[in-house]
Amino acid sequence: MSDRPVPDRPLTSDPATRPITVPDLRDAKARARRIVMLTAYDFPTARLLDEAGIDILLVGDSVGNTVLGYDSTLPVTMEEMLHHTRAVARGTRRALVVVDMPYLSYQTGTRDAIRNAGRFLKEGAAAAVKVEGGRRRARTVRALLDAEIPVMGHIGLTPQSVHLMGGYRVQGKKADEARDLVADARALEEAGAFALVVEGVPEPLGRAITESVGIPTIGIGAGRYCDGQVLVFHDLVGLGSSPAPRFVRRYARIGEMIRDAARRFGDDVRSGAFPSESEVYSAPAAIPSKARSGAR
Ligand code: KIV
Repeated sequence: MSDRPVPDRPLTSDPATRPITVPDLRDAKARARRIVMLTAYDFPTARLLDEAGIDILLVGDSVGNTVLGYDSTLPVTMEEMLHHTRAVARGTRRALVVVDMPYLSYQTGTRDAIRNAGRFLKEGAAAAVKVEGGRRRARTVRALLDAEIPVMGHIGLTPQSVHLMGGYRVQGKKADEARDLVADARALEEAGAFALVVEGVPEPLGRAITESVGIPTIGIGAGRYCDGQVLVFHDLVGLGSSPAPRFVRRYARIGEMIRDAARRFGDDVRSGAFPSESEVYSAPAAIPSKARSGAR
């Protein structure tokens, strides 16, 4: 251990490149700074989103639907999440990397939760984990904090409860359900969560939850009054295979660009237009005909 004093300021002098920390996010609400979060599942996308200044990269278990071809998040495994987390962490310099705990990695008890969440920090280089559920998750959040693992909560439409909810439906439309969700948010704050994803609730409820807690809320389909917003990357850039929900704003049509590029490549190969003379290697001297016939 060095005797030098520990700096109380960031190690880099440029605030634009200083890595985002959990305390930065917890304080963002007091500083009235809106939080920007996107999902990321691989190295090149993480690098681009990080360079674009996104605050939080969420390795969402939505990787199941968006990348792995499952029809829900339920089949996603710890090993799959770890694989994607490592790739995202390798591409990230500034953003905070948060990982979704997959289904059954934390619902089975605090011991499992600590062991599995710890792997994301130890083996995946993530900074925090996200768990779905409200008051019934408070004990898990406390246990994770006791093991030095920062936790983001997730309430409202929680995709891992798809069968209990009877589908991906807007939550909290009735007064008693709305009251329960406010109580869930308070319980998670009380347990020590540093931020909350609020998904799929009517805007007035998103606002009420946001005004009921001191930690930031990050909305997805939860209206304009949350302290930040998150979207699934594939929805943002038009890479999704199903129609986007109402709350998605599409900023690019990458899916169409990929299909078009692949079609044009196919056309060029079939017509002989690819490769052209400028796309081949030349040899400094003529290749003897013997070498040509022996080639392959
Ligand atoms: O898995 C995910 O992508 C998420 C976001 C919808 C917040 O949890």
